[in-house]
Amino acid sequence: MMDAIRASIDVDPAFRADVLAGLSAPVKAIPARWLYDRAGSEWFEKITALPEYYPTRTEVALLKRHCPDVAAIVGKGSAVIEFGSGSSYKTPILLNCVHPAAYVPIDISGDFLRDSAAVLQVGFPALPIHPVEADFMKPIALPEAVAALPKLGFFPGSTIGNMVPRTAVDLLRAMKDTLDDGAFLLIGMDRIKDASILIPAYDDAQGVTAAFNLNLLHRINRELRGMIPTASFAHRAIWNDGKARIEMHLEALADVRFTVEGRPFAMQAGETIHTENSHKYGPRDARLLLHAAGWGVRAEYVDEQDQFALLLAEAEPPRFAP
Ligand code: AVI
Repeated sequence: MMDAIRASIDVDPAFRADVLAGLSAPVKAIPARWLYDRAGSEWFEKITALPEYYPTRTEVALLKRHCPDVAAIVGKGSAVIEFGSGSSYKTPILLNCVHPAAYVPIDISGDFLRDSAAVLQVGFPALPIHPVEADFMKPIALPEAVAALPKLGFFPGSTIGNMVPRTAVDLLRAMKDTLDDGAFLLIGMDRIKDASILIPAYDDAQGVTAAFNLNLLHRINRELRGMIPTASFAHRAIWNDGKARIEMHLEALADVRFTVEGRPFAMQAGETIHTENSHKYGPRDARLLLHAAGWGVRAEYVDEQDQFALLLAEAEPPRFAP
């Protein structure tokens, strides 16, 4: 009883609203951000180490190899502004070679932010760290202490790919407004490639990605008094060629009926809940996406197999179009 009361108190009202609306829609879909509760984040950590999941290790290798090139363009003494609370692995690689004057991680989750800032501070005791708790989808006022410094934004992980292009452009524009004129942005984007590589990366042999996706149903059952028969659902990863994206779905294996927060839902066998998009960008697509938001590409670093790109973009000055 106490657990039920506590669960209903702790539940994020936005999660409840998104799940109920998403399950009621004619084409069922739940925003991908709800995949990342504590269990989901742990599953995602495991995904990054899978043999089939090339993006993380490819990006890390690119960052190690080309960080000196980035430093040569950006110069020492800038403020590194990371969009996200900072990865324990990638951020130190960048900080070690660009020798910033300050580091500003921005994240909506204050807890993650403070924890990762504290861990980084141990490795970089002399570096001024100014965590900012905010939603970086909107322009943010940076701390006064970094106002006069040149800025290098950092957005690794191909997280931009999890947004539809319209939202991605909105975010890139907000980043430009946050960082201001003359800023650089180092961003990871996953390349379009053969489905024979993409599908296993999102549907691995050990079933880790399946567990990550199915955890959403367990979360709904835990937090929203859900009665979803999770064993009647399977993880699906689909390559949508027209939209150049991997889609994750949860497919009902039989006709099912269940309730969430007391509300009845029904799904037919074969019907799916769409849970995530992961857009992939060719070289010109990546440039166009950045350009649409006011960024010019200054340098592009790609691995030998052309699997993943790290792009160093530079804020373009506002200009009248001819
Ligand atoms: C976080 N994001 C960049 C991952 C991706 O590749 O789109 C999320 C993910 N979903 C399944 N595997 C990885």
